Amino acid sequence: MRCAVSRWVARACDGRCLPDLDRARVIIPGIVTSLAQSDLDSAAHATRVLTGYRPTGPLHLGHWAGNVENMLALQADPARECFFFIADWHMLTTHYDRTDELPGFVEGLVLDWLAAGIDPERSVVYRQSDLPEVAEMALLLGMITPLGWLERVPSFKERLRDMDERDIANLGLLGYPVLQTVDITIVGGELVPVGEDQVAHLELSREIVRRFNRLYGDVLVEPQPLLSATPLVPGSDGRKMSKSFDNAIGVRDDEDTIRAKVRSFVTDPQKVRRGDPGRPEICPIFALHERFSPDDVDRVEATCRTGELGCVDCKTLLADHLVSAFAPFRERRAELAARPGLVADVLAAGAERARPVARATLEAVRRAMHFDG
Ligand code: TRP
Repeated sequence: MRCAVSRWVARACDGRCLPDLDRARVIIPGIVTSLAQSDLDSAAHATRVLTGYRPTGPLHLGHWAGNVENMLALQADPARECFFFIADWHMLTTHYDRTDELPGFVEGLVLDWLAAGIDPERSVVYRQSDLPEVAEMALLLGMITPLGWLERVPSFKERLRDMDERDIANLGLLGYPVLQTVDITIVGGELVPVGEDQVAHLELSREIVRRFNRLYGDVLVEPQPLLSATPLVPGSDGRKMSKSFDNAIGVRDDEDTIRAKVRSFVTDPQKVRRGDPGRPEICPIFALHERFSPDDVDRVEATCRTGELGCVDCKTLLADHLVSAFAPFRERRAELAARPGLVADVLAAGAERARPVARATLEAVRRAMHFDG
């Protein structure tokens, strides 16, 4: 059990910052943590990192390569103190009519995180809606956020356009960045890991913070983006891997599903049969080899170019790697899923840790705005 956790952590940080497993102890029954009390104490001086996930479906390889590995590396860095939260209110911005799916999605996401190696002792793992302070502060920040700023956020118009079959032109969607600003500032988040597509949101958060501090005094911390260099992971059709494009390989997929999905991927259209030279740089299968087949990637590239390697064999090799790379994850996830109440315990413990921080910020905000009388 321990090695499944450490394997993922080791992978995420190239083995440079392996946790000292001799110090491992069990805090939440069954979850191994490599943390000693001294780490918790010194974490007070670490840089606070915050990131959240909307619980709208199971994780796929794009999330894994783009975020989860990054979260594990951040968690393993003693100079960081990580807050990882489930943005369940944010889920309503596009899925307000599907709240019956919410409990399952939340449970599934937390299990994925834990099985991946997110350690709820080292990182604060919590759910947005467990902190009502977030809602009060969102109301207050909403009062000082100009409509024009929100209407200009590129993803607002994109979402409306991409999901035009659904009725999502609601106040909540427009206010998405306000709520996100509160998520970050209420726990004093200094660094927010973001992809290029989220930079505009964060820039808006910084403007809201500056406006608040100008109006009421220096209360809120201005967050900085932590840009990840991860290239986008392509899906079976060559577009960005995404649940809404139906082109994703899920981290929970079983062996047969992984193999079938890998077979369905498009490859270089000019490489019709073995012997034809291929162009790895435009092939989504090669992009996945680069992420998930570190030991074979050079050979795959060379033999694809010469034509010696055919696409069928190339796909089989990738599927083999994916199946074996995710086997420990799936095993561990199954073990964790068999424990009733585990997710609820983790979230309750995380809320206990996040709440005093959120409360202190909200009190400072109320005081600054003269709502403390
Ligand atoms: N926008 C993120 C997503 O689409 C979720 C999120 C909500 C978030 N609040 C955040 C991310 C604060 C980082 C920081 O999944």
